Amino acid sequence: MKIYLDTANLGEIREAARWGILSGVTTNPSLMAQEEGADFEDTIRTICELVNGPISAETVSEDADGMVREGVEFAGWHSNVIIKVPSTTEGLEAVSRLGRRGIRCNVTLIFNTNQALLAALAGAFVVSPFIGRVDDMSYDGMELIREIAEVFDQDPDIRTQILAASIRHPRHVTESALAGAHIATCPFNVLRKCMQHPLTDRGMASFLADWRKREAAMALATAGS
Ligand code: G3P
Repeated sequence: MKIYLDTANLGEIREAARWGILSGVTTNPSLMAQEEGADFEDTIRTICELVNGPISAETVSEDADGMVREGVEFAGWHSNVIIKVPSTTEGLEAVSRLGRRGIRCNVTLIFNTNQALLAALAGAFVVSPFIGRVDDMSYDGMELIREIAEVFDQDPDIRTQILAASIRHPRHVTESALAGAHIATCPFNVLRKCMQHPLTDRGMASFLADWRKREAAMALATAGS
């Protein structure tokens, strides 16, 4: 399973890009709104220079014509840009029209398997089930990923990838991989937590302490000889 970063924060993207694990980035209007004063086009262009993979830029139109207009514009900014459209009937039309122009789409705000299937049939490059928000409604977000994966696997013509979104904690990352997601898009804090373990910290501390003891003993031996 590939990892994308779910943010529009350039500092976070620069740092995670240095770790060498990123295959793409997803943004959305709410994430952009957190970056006060940042220009959308500049942000997307900069992200495309930092990460060589699909970078999702989301449309804000509610009708297919508007989504296609925005999608064509965003796709012109950089070849890494993919267009995020909502999981609505207008969104489906936009996906198929953009697809005919060779523009890849991420169908977002997916909450059931039928939405994912129809998005795939319209030619979506990726579909984004929002697992955390499904969990918030007392349903099982992972079950949604598993069901979509099973349905996609039954049709050899479907090449749409499953992108697990609305990831809230490290367990969501592991479970997404096990459930059949091709990609998980993670907030920066979740990605950092994925690498945290108290036994790693304790192990490092004892390795370093032992190393220092060894050096001190060697220095003493050298001084005494
Ligand atoms: O990738 C979608 C994500 O940004 C939404 O996450 O935590 O607001 O449900 P959340």
